[in-house]
Amino acid sequence: MTSDLMSFSEKSFVVEDEAEGDRLAREALLDCAMGPGRRRKSSEKLRNGRLPSSGLAFVVRNGTGQVIGTVRLWDVAAGGRSLLLLGPLAVDASSEGKGIGSVLMRHAITRAKEQGHGAIILVGDAPYYQRFGFSAGKTGSLMMPGPVERDRLLGVDLKPGYLDGLAGLLVASGRRWLRRNNRDNARELQAA
Ligand SMILES: CC(C)(COP(=O)(O)OP(=O)(O)OC[C@H]1O[C@@H](n2cnc3c(N)ncnc32)[C@H](O)[C@@H]1OP(=O)(O)O)[C@@H](O)C(=O)NCCC(=O)NCCS
Repeated sequence: MTSDLMSFSEKSFVVEDEAEGDRLAREALLDCAMGPGRRRKSSEKLRNGRLPSSGLAFVVRNGTGQVIGTVRLWDVAAGGRSLLLLGPLAVDASSEGKGIGSVLMRHAITRAKEQGHGAIILVGDAPYYQRFGFSAGKTGSLMMPGPVERDRLLGVDLKPGYLDGLAGLLVASGRRWLRRNNRDNARELQAA
């Protein structure tokens, strides 16, 4: 399960696949990092009621096992083509600026590529995400299911030219979250 081990200063951090037991810690981290308004974002309409894409939900733990970073990717589609939506990405405020966000991003991109996905899009600050290859250059004809600042809708090709000419409304295409049976969801996540 563990895939990357990093050392910053004298502490160790590890990137792992997210486990079912991480849900509360992840949600608390997101509430702190992004505030209650996070649930009103247009991206949330593509995530709500869905499970993350198989094998593409990650956490960073500190030396005591506490979740201090999170990122997930989601299956979406536009113009008949499948792609991934990344987010939210968050790092605990006490651990910011140590490269944890970058490690999470690079890990997520590598794993998505290994799985054969064609491209990733996200809504975020270009000055941060451009270091991972994201730009608004190929997302101008994509529409979110809600308001979005165009210069914050960013994309990166995982396969050459995958985003070329991509146009249309982004829709959720991921596996549905089964509200009645969390055990099934847990099994599905573990199998992913
Ligand atoms: C954005 C975030 C994930 C970065 O995590 P991190 O672990 O601190 O990132 P890293 O250590 O890898 O990178 C830090 C660098 O990114 C820069 N950076 C951080 N946020 C930035 C932003 N919004 N725009 C531009 N640069 C940014 C820092 O200034 C720093 O620059 P430096 O390397 O030149 O010193 C983290 O600050 C966070 O969780 N923020 C709140 C939630 C959020 O805004 N998430 C992103 C939107 S989904």
